[in-house]
Amino acid sequence: MKNHTISFFLSFLLLIVSCSSDEDEPIPDNKETEEEKRPTNLQEYNNTTDGLKDYYTADTYFEIGAAIEPSSLDKAEEVDLMKRHFSSLTAENVMKWSSLQRSEGNFNFTSADKIVDFAQANGMKVRGHTLCWYNQTPDWVFKDGDNTASKELVLERLRTHISTVMKHFKGKVYAWDVVNEAIDDGSGTYRASKWFVICGSDFIIEAFKAAREADTEAKLFYNDYSTVSPTKREKIFKLLKRLNDQNLIDGVGMQSHWNIGYPSDELVIEAFDKYTSLGLEIHITELDVSVYTADSDPESAYTTDIAQKQVAAYSDFFSLFRRYKDHVSSVTFWGLADNHTWLDNFPVRGRKNYPFLFDTDYNPKEAYFSVIEKLGS
Ligand code: GLA
Repeated sequence: MKNHTISFFLSFLLLIVSCSSDEDEPIPDNKETEEEKRPTNLQEYNNTTDGLKDYYTADTYFEIGAAIEPSSLDKAEEVDLMKRHFSSLTAENVMKWSSLQRSEGNFNFTSADKIVDFAQANGMKVRGHTLCWYNQTPDWVFKDGDNTASKELVLERLRTHISTVMKHFKGKVYAWDVVNEAIDDGSGTYRASKWFVICGSDFIIEAFKAAREADTEAKLFYNDYSTVSPTKREKIFKLLKRLNDQNLIDGVGMQSHWNIGYPSDELVIEAFDKYTSLGLEIHITELDVSVYTADSDPESAYTTDIAQKQVAAYSDFFSLFRRYKDHVSSVTFWGLADNHTWLDNFPVRGRKNYPFLFDTDYNPKEAYFSVIEKLGS
């Protein structure tokens, strides 16, 4: 009884104290505290271990990914960067057909497994890229001796490849770019690839059917570039609709090889609205923001002017991703840091580019601070 009286009195006292402190000092706004904790310069960055994936949590926003080669796993700085910032990995090359099945029936998963094992050991997801593409696919796929293979043979090989690869990675790769770049950039609907010339557009449907069958849990994506260009967008949309009507697809992969002047907010918004009208998820699959806006631009150092334009572009793009966070479930960069990017050799050979949030020494750039600054807005 005595104990009860004391504890009642103490609770009462606590209530009074907490009420009066409520009036005097407002409860600290959690968002502001979080915001204050986010670094705004290199020194503050070095004083925390948090990274992109901690600010852009998958629950509230989206997975943050990077495409890597297995050789990155032997470089301490790159491993550190991966662990600190990314919740998802993509193989830049080693899951493509030419790496996994160079000659018929000889599957080699060694390099791809290295990435998957690393991701699993570090609690990261893996996006599979890619099962069917016109590029980096060996010639034997389309040949029967010296002749062109028949449609039946090519489709049989496609089904075998997809089923073998997806079963190998079942439970470890949560999403696949099943078909990559099948839509034409010009006036045609479908790209005149060997796949299309031999099989017509059936190869796309067959690829998705084989994928659904091989791993019912995996999320299936159609992946392409220029997905915000209005003409290509409409063609992609029709294909997505065709696949979606048969329940063969879960999302669209927007590669997003963009630059400091392209695309406009309007183009991105129109594309997001169009694709999500089908109820599909959006993955930004290959994001990089080139510092050049034209093939004819001469090579340039990473000047303050370019840096500022890149800050503006990245802030804009991420603010759109945040706005569409209920649909955009993954944002993957096509690389880690400015020391390694395919853009150094494309579209102009040997023209150094600086497309990422981290510089050639793996340090965060202004663009990094800008994408984490306005979170919540
Ligand atoms: C395309 C492909 C990627 C990669 C890039 C260039 O976007 O989808 O796999 O090859 O080109 O590196």
